[in-house]
Amino acid sequence: MTDAPEPVLTHDPDRPRDIAHLGPVELYTPALEESAEFFVRQMGLRQVHRERDSVYLHTWDDYQSWTVRLVRRERAGVGRTYLRASGPAALARTASALREAGIACETTSAVRGLGVVLNFDAPDGHPMGLYWDVERYRPGADDRPGLKNQAAAYPGRGANVRRLDHINYLTSDVPAAVRFAGDLLGGRCTERIVKDDGQPQAVWFSLMNKTYDLVWTEDWTGTRGRLHHLAFATDTREEILRAADVFLDAGTHIETGPHKHAIQQTFFLYVWEPGGNRIELCNAGARLILAPDWETISWSRAERAKRQAWGLRTIESFHTHGTPSL
Ligand SMILES: [Fe+2]
Repeated sequence: MTDAPEPVLTHDPDRPRDIAHLGPVELYTPALEESAEFFVRQMGLRQVHRERDSVYLHTWDDYQSWTVRLVRRERAGVGRTYLRASGPAALARTASALREAGIACETTSAVRGLGVVLNFDAPDGHPMGLYWDVERYRPGADDRPGLKNQAAAYPGRGANVRRLDHINYLTSDVPAAVRFAGDLLGGRCTERIVKDDGQPQAVWFSLMNKTYDLVWTEDWTGTRGRLHHLAFATDTREEILRAADVFLDAGTHIETGPHKHAIQQTFFLYVWEPGGNRIELCNAGARLILAPDWETISWSRAERAKRQAWGLRTIESFHTHGTPSL
């Protein structure tokens, strides 16, 4: 392995893109009220439904009825990740592929705001749900947008995150995640970190034209099914700078940033929500992956040692903290 691995085509350009985007995500929290308060007041989400042990939240430009469901649990972590299929045929195709691969699937119609959902586990045990039918978000009198091509009015509160952007899972088996995301979901690996033995240590998968939607990072502890972080997109980099001040005033733990990643060039800020889950605010600017034959960019350990884009050293907890914490 050289210090600067060459880009290489790792997908079949004719493979249909059967998954449209990352859908709603469930987050476990041991501090439900405090976590809800964080997402509403500091992140700018809106509470849209409440049950005894869970809170449904919506980001202002999500066309779907909810974006995040906070679930009261003893330990923080990620619950089910929902993925929207690109169409009914894509859903059926993916269901067949999962079953042929020996992955147990079960359908349910009991998920709020979604129609029939196909439940299954990703290789490391992360629960997932694939759906097509979805309930659209209906703004109320106090969040009706001025323009009809926007889900809800701009909240003007805290970080004002616009939508969910990506999820980064910790996994005990990165190669299994690569097969799952590429072969079964039809995702494309846009960038990856390779170890000195040539094996992937972290992989960034794009479902459509975004640079990435699903990320798997090696869990150095070998534990299965943990979360590294859940990321939300803001309209501008400036909103991330302002968000850092919002978090500072609120006493929220800022882990690292604002700064710019070398990998994927994302402008970032990481905080820990009151339940302990790492939350990222990110902005990719205008960067998209348009090339259907985009070749996967690999980063070696030597290249990683050159730090983040503008020289920031990656903080130690970024390599050690995940939820549930050990
Ligand atoms: Fe991220």
